[in-house]
Amino acid sequence: MPAVSAEFDRIADLYDETRRALDQETLKGVKEMLQKHECHTILEIGVGTGRVSVPLLESGFRVAGMDISIRMMEKAREKGVPNLVLAEGSKTPFRDASFDATLMAHVFHLLQDPMSVMREAARVSEVGIFALVRKRNPGEQRWGFSFYEGNVNALDENERKIVEERRERFRKIAEKYGVRWDMSQRFRNWQKEDEILGTFPPDDLKVVSDKMVTLNFEEHISRLERGAYSSILRIPEAMRIEIVSEMRSFAASHPDRISRPRHEVYQLAMWKPQRLVALGNNSVGY
Ligand SMILES: C[S@@+](CC[C@H](N)C(=O)[O-])C[C@H]1O[C@@H](n2cnc3c(N)ncnc32)[C@H](O)[C@@H]1O
Repeated sequence: MPAVSAEFDRIADLYDETRRALDQETLKGVKEMLQKHECHTILEIGVGTGRVSVPLLESGFRVAGMDISIRMMEKAREKGVPNLVLAEGSKTPFRDASFDATLMAHVFHLLQDPMSVMREAARVSEVGIFALVRKRNPGEQRWGFSFYEGNVNALDENERKIVEERRERFRKIAEKYGVRWDMSQRFRNWQKEDEILGTFPPDDLKVVSDKMVTLNFEEHISRLERGAYSSILRIPEAMRIEIVSEMRSFAASHPDRISRPRHEVYQLAMWKPQRLVALGNNSVGY
């Protein structure tokens, strides 16, 4: 199993309390799109704690869940998700076209090789592969360890200067702990979703949620402090403590920069399996 399975095993106890519940608007959009394409049997790849599968089951869909983290799936089982399989997304144990649909929610950015998972999803889906993804704005403000993980070129000069100073500060902390700090890699991970949508325009695409969200900054720092994200688990504990204290002191001196509302748009993409299966194994350079 990839290292990410151990990370989610560690996060499992914290996951539900540190993530916002999926809002009604998003769930309604997901259900409507599945219904529109007459999909009743669903395999959720990366089912996690069942945050998406549970409401789908409650609405009458037949759902099976698959994940690489046994501890995340234990939570899903406690909530009543009945059919759970420990397996990696690119190697499912199911026969061709076993389900009407496969669904991935908040999973793409974690995958080393998203296309191999897409192809496998295509193999086991009769009607469609569905993915819930965030539509990202290239200049958007994100709270990473540096307060900004987007493309600095999209910022005005003053903002860019602040961001670059922050990045430099974090680079120094990383150096002290012998950790390679590659902000652009983290940015690329999030870009995978956009790249897939760009390379393979979906057969159907629907915005399921569009709103302004203001996150509580202290809550965000506290999630990092508790190790609630897979990325933070990859760095040494002492470095995590130093980063958290750095973020707190930055927040205290720049209160104007920490509570900006951000425009959050989620969309559900759907691809017909025939298109992806036809690609074969070597057609895409991921
Ligand atoms: C961010 S959680 C999302 C869980 C759930 N879909 C939700 O929206 O709450 C991502 C989940 O994907 C799983 N995962 C990551 N990489 C995977 C892979 N290659 N194959 C299967 N599951 C994977 C993780 O273990 C984790 O449970």
